[in-house]
Amino acid sequence: MAEKINVLYDEESLDKRIRELAGQISRDYEGKEVTIICILKGACFFACELAKRITVPVFLDFMRISSYGNETESSGEVKIVQDLDEPLRGKNVIVVEDIIDSGRSMHYLLKILKSRGPESLKLCSLLNKPDRRVTEVEIDYTGFDIPDEFVVGYGLDYAQKYRNLPYIGTVVLEEK
Ligand code: IMP
Ligand code: MG
Repeated sequence: MAEKINVLYDEESLDKRIRELAGQISRDYEGKEVTIICILKGACFFACELAKRITVPVFLDFMRISSYGNETESSGEVKIVQDLDEPLRGKNVIVVEDIIDSGRSMHYLLKILKSRGPESLKLCSLLNKPDRRVTEVEIDYTGFDIPDEFVVGYGLDYAQKYRNLPYIGTVVLEEK
């Protein structure tokens, strides 16, 4: 079967929304510094675009996690594949993620990060699929709420493909 991508959010709308989120974060953290934790690999495009537009000092750190499970479903147990460079104690931390689906991965990860004693801990996700939620997660900054469809692009993948698309689209399987 061939795959076709239907554009859901083009470059311009992503750019506009990311500017709005960055503005909101800059206002909320006025007079403070923020540490952004980019969750690899999916959030890398979003985290960079967001960080560039935040006007308070930003420190960047990276974490790679893998959720035990299959291609499209996470299990809830998260393995830290690559940990942060720096401790979080006393810092204002924003975890930046590509998408919250069942909520299991972030629920689990936020608990781990909280135990490291940050001054504050917030979650920012480019996309959110509220219909799919299994575990409750509070998202402080959301780009777009989307319906229950599998999306790719702007960092998100389907079997590691399509991460570099400059837009977000849905994958449609077509009979040839
Ligand atoms: P959760 O633990 O179910 O919330 O899983 C979130 C993770 O699943 C995300 O970080 C993505 O890696 C992946 N994921 C969930 N939905 C999609 C999607 O529509 N496209 C690509 N990856 C997705
Ligand atoms: Mg991910």
